[in-house]
Amino acid sequence: MNTQAAPSARYSRGAVILHWLIAVLIVLNFVFAFMAEDKPREEALAIMANHKAIGILILLFTVLRVVWRLTHRPPAPLADLKPWELALSRVVHFLLYLFMLAVPLGGWATHSAWSGGQPVNLFGLIDWPGLPFAASKTLGETFGEMHEVGAFSMAALVVLHIAGALKHRIVDRNPDTLRRISIGA
Ligand code: HEM
Ligand code: HEM
Repeated sequence: MNTQAAPSARYSRGAVILHWLIAVLIVLNFVFAFMAEDKPREEALAIMANHKAIGILILLFTVLRVVWRLTHRPPAPLADLKPWELALSRVVHFLLYLFMLAVPLGGWATHSAWSGGQPVNLFGLIDWPGLPFAASKTLGETFGEMHEVGAFSMAALVVLHIAGALKHRIVDRNPDTLRRISIGA
């Protein structure tokens, strides 16, 4: 039985759109986190309000994406992948999903612990509830550390992920890997 994907096999449109939407939002959220660092307090708070709202969007889109992934079959792996490449890509994809959920959850917990369970306002439109924590500096700092370490671990995974994609494109000269997740045809 031939279990290899035809070269044209690609991720479903929903998976592709969610992949790129979430990727852009994650990059944006790192930019906001760093921009807030050396700003005066008022400005930093305004930037962090956007960071939090975008982070919650990432959480929601990722939940949608995981549901989509579980209900839509991904294309079969490309025929030219070596077994170790396939195994590594599966582990990295799994860990990426894990961090795409854990990092915003950690941010939400950080916000909730610092603020004593205050809601997160999403772009002045609606309130996303806070987690039911009493205000605590210790807990805020602990969750803050976890959130930060998680975010940087996720960034390292993304670098590995992009390096893998580019290796297939440039070293192996195989355009199919990128084509499978590209927005165009
Ligand atoms: C924050 C940035 C990114 C995140 C979090 C991310 C995450 C993911 C995840 C979780 C998958 C697995 C899809 C699945 O099978 O369910 C995936 C697939 C893929 N991503 Fe990304 N990605 C990011 C950026 C990029 C970039 C910049 C590129 C291109 C240079 C890229 C290229 C790909 C490719 C080619 C696949 C399909 C791999 C395959 O066919 O097995 N990704 N991505
Ligand atoms: C994928 C989504 C997210 C990413 C990549 C991300 C990334 C980061 C990074 C890199 C920092 C550290 C900045 C520094 O070095 O000072 C940070 C801090 C922070 N983030 Fe996020 N974040 C995300 C989601 C969220 C969410 C959803 C919330 C809250 C609802 C949030 C709230 C915070 C807070 C309060 C801090 C300051 C932590 C502290 O120092 O106590 N983040 N985030």
